[in-house]
This record gives sequence, structure tokens and C-alpha cells, in this order.
Amino acid sequence: METTTKPQPQTARNGSFLSVSGAHLISRNRGAGYARVTLAGITEAELAQPGQFLMIRRLGSAALPRAFSVLRAEDDRIELFIKLDGLLRELLGSVPYRTRFELRGPYGVPYEEQIDTDQRYILVGGGSGAAPLLFLRERRPDLVAETVLGFRHDGASGLFPALDFVVEARDRLQAHDRLAEVWRPGLGVIACGPEPMLRAIARQHDGVPHVYVSLEARLGCGIGSCLGCSIPTLTGTQRICRDGPLFASSELPWLR
Ligand SMILES: Cc1cc2nc3c(=O)[nH]c(=O)nc-3n(C[C@H](O)[C@H](O)[C@H](O)COP(=O)(O)OP(=O)(O)OC[C@H]3O[C@@H](n4cnc5c(N)ncnc54)[C@H](O)[C@@H]3O)c2cc1C
Ligand code: FES
Repeated sequence: METTTKPQPQTARNGSFLSVSGAHLISRNRGAGYARVTLAGITEAELAQPGQFLMIRRLGSAALPRAFSVLRAEDDRIELFIKLDGLLRELLGSVPYRTRFELRGPYGVPYEEQIDTDQRYILVGGGSGAAPLLFLRERRPDLVAETVLGFRHDGASGLFPALDFVVEARDRLQAHDRLAEVWRPGLGVIACGPEPMLRAIARQHDGVPHVYVSLEARLGCGIGSCLGCSIPTLTGTQRICRDGPLFASSELPWLR
């Protein structure tokens, strides 16, 4: 008798598992300038890995979808951490519950596949760049020596009451200044946030091994076909959406 066995997915890669036109907003927690937003109705959401992102737009919208990192993924839900700045993000921050969104993904290489997992890291997040790092911290606390999250103003602390933030307007420090205080030889760094922050970290840690930066760019397709997110690296041209978003800082001489 012939039997067929359906392969069981272990991890979600390159959009194989999440492609949904009926995801709907079920909860939202707003701070000043930032929000945590949860979308539900997503098949196998829990298979999204830290560092991966989704392409999202309002259902029926003619606008290009935008990229969002996963902050949490469980059951049929994905939580995002967004800066309330821009068309879609302000929409996510204001539309009524049950508004539906089209969502595809997850895309990008999971952080765990890009880094040396025998190493411990300081995670450095700037603004909404905290999202993938907090997801990594939740899934792989063993990899994390310290977490540094920096914000310009104190608008997001109520959204993460258990965490300490570096608030530039209050502490007169930026995230990379705090990193310089807590880093010690032997520790790696994984950073996600605005490019000036990534640049400062790449310069500070020039020549230090295991320093990684997660890049953001306005993505077109999100799946590696339009080449709109191509960047030069020491090993040739790579695409942020398909080959990243995480890159070893040593691969990006233009960042320093
Ligand atoms: C891999 C990846 C992960 C990401 N994860 C997140 C995340 O977790 N959370 C998050 O908040 N963002 C994230 N982003 C960034 C987000 O995808 C982009 O900022 C996206 O453009 C937001 O879409 P929007 O429609 O809300 O804003 P947009 O309307 O695209 O605006 C984005 C920014 O551009 C400015 N802008 C818009 N139009 C113009 C114009 N004509 N001239 C000048 N400036 C203009 C806006 O004021 C705003 O500051 C991620 C990006 C990538 C690549
Ligand atoms: S966004 Fe199209 S190739 Fe990256």
C-alpha cells in the first residue's frame, strides 16, 4: 500500500507558511509616538523566527506593502512594535479593532542562522528596532548578555514596563553610548535601529568580531526579485530582504 507523508514544517522561511488576506487587528497599546499592535487570524504564525519580517498593507489598499519585524508570534497572532510615523504605521495605530490587513511572509533569514550561537551578545535597539531583538531575547535568552534600548523621548517606556530604556532627552545618552559602557571583550553585538546608530556602533567596534547590524530600507517586493534593496558587501551585492536583514558589520565597510 502506498502512503504519503506530508512534510512537517519546523521553521517558516521565505513566505511558505504565512500568507493571509484576513488578518485582523485585535489589540493595540499606544504610547507617545509608538504602539504595540497585535494582528490575529494568521496561519502558523508561531513559526516566524526572530529577525524575520512581514509585508503588510491594509486589505484592498493599492499602496505597496511595508515591512515590519515580528515582536512576538504565538498561536494565530503576530505582535508588532511600530513607530507612529508614516501612512501605514499611523493607520495601524488608529484604525478600529477588527480592521483587516493583507499580510505575507515571514521573509528574511532568521537571526539565529546568521550569528554564531556559541557566542553571547549585547542587543542594542534604537526606536522600533527593538522589535526583533526583544523577540530574539524571548526565544533565546541564553544568547543575551545585556539589552540596551534607546529612544529619543520617553514615549515607549509604558509599553514595556519591565524594561529599562536609555532616553536621550532625559539621560543625555544614546544607545551606543550605553553600549560603550557595558561592552566587554568577548561579547558580540546585535544592533537594529536607525542608520546613524548602526554607523556609530560599527565605528566603535571596528575590528571586533561578532558585531551584527540589522538593516532597514524601504522594500519593494520583500522577496528578492526587484533588487531595490541591494547593498554592496565585501562578498558582493546582497539584498536586505533576502540575504539579510542582518549582516556582519565587518561585511559593510561603507557603514563605518
Ligand atoms: C526588515 C524591516 C523591518 C522593519 N521593521 C519595522 C518595525 O518593526 N516597526 C516599524 O515601525 N518600522 C519597521 N520598518 C520600517 C518600515 O517598514 C518603514 O518605515 C515603512 O516605510 C513604514 O511604512 P509607512 O507607510 O508607515 O510609512 P511611510 O509613509 O513609508 O513613511 C516612512 C517615513 O518616510 C517619511 N516620508 C514619507 N513620505 C515621504 C516623502 N515624500 N518625503 C520625505 N519623507 C517621507 C515619513 O514621514 C516617515 O518618516 C522595517 C523595515 C524593514 C526593511
Ligand atoms: S525588496 Fe525587492 S529585492 Fe529586496
